[in-house]
Amino acid sequence: MEKFQNTKDNWDANLYDIKHSFVSKYGNNLVELLAPKQGEKILDLGCGTGDLANTLYECGVEIVGVDKSENMVKQAVSKYPYIPFMVQDATNLEYHSEFDAVFSNATLHWVQPPIQALHSIYQSLKQGGRVVAEFGGKGNVQTITDEIIQQIKEAGLEFKKEQFPWFYPSIAEYSNLMEEVGFRVTFVQHFDRPTQLDGDNGLKNWINMFGSHLLDGIPEHTANEIVTNVEKNLKGTLYKGGNWIADYKRIRVIGVK
Ligand code: BEZ
Repeated sequence: MEKFQNTKDNWDANLYDIKHSFVSKYGNNLVELLAPKQGEKILDLGCGTGDLANTLYECGVEIVGVDKSENMVKQAVSKYPYIPFMVQDATNLEYHSEFDAVFSNATLHWVQPPIQALHSIYQSLKQGGRVVAEFGGKGNVQTITDEIIQQIKEAGLEFKKEQFPWFYPSIAEYSNLMEEVGFRVTFVQHFDRPTQLDGDNGLKNWINMFGSHLLDGIPEHTANEIVTNVEKNLKGTLYKGGNWIADYKRIRVIGVK
């Protein structure tokens, strides 16, 4: 949930907490995979509005949260003033051999170049420390993004590859990067996680929150038309029982320094 975007900070922290709290709810499973021990020093990389950092705090962990979005960090500080939260870039973390673990939920798909983030994570860990991360994997929300790109083209507009804001690797690709950096990869998983987007406007809300980069530079009324067409064309496949179901595909990894 964090957000490492290249351009301006357009994360709406309130909207994120109100309509997209599922991101940290799903992250609770990742906390189980992390298996934090009391007293460990752990970095929450891409802490968003701080909910999972607080879960880790309640486990007795010495937690530090960082996120590239100032809006997210401000909200995290106001919700959990007893946790240190800072604005930092995942590709340029200011830590050296400090953490027992780096934990990252729903962030690394935003970070380019991915190898630089892995170097930065590696540098932040103590020898023997672990990274435990979940992010979008190959094919993530592809039904949605393919349809948005198709509708952009049908509106007579160009869509350049560089406008695609995410990195969705396969297991092989990501494990290779981790090994290149020096990690021993002890766990990898690529799995489907159909994700419910609540209500009739669920897909539109999701596009506003996460997919707005795809529509950057497009006049508002054209962008609205594109979103309406996307909804119309995907209704038959992704709308079930009054809710939209997004075709999330996730990767989970554990690497040891
Ligand atoms: C997220 O950051 O949670 C996210 C981004 C793109 C697609 C799916 C999820």
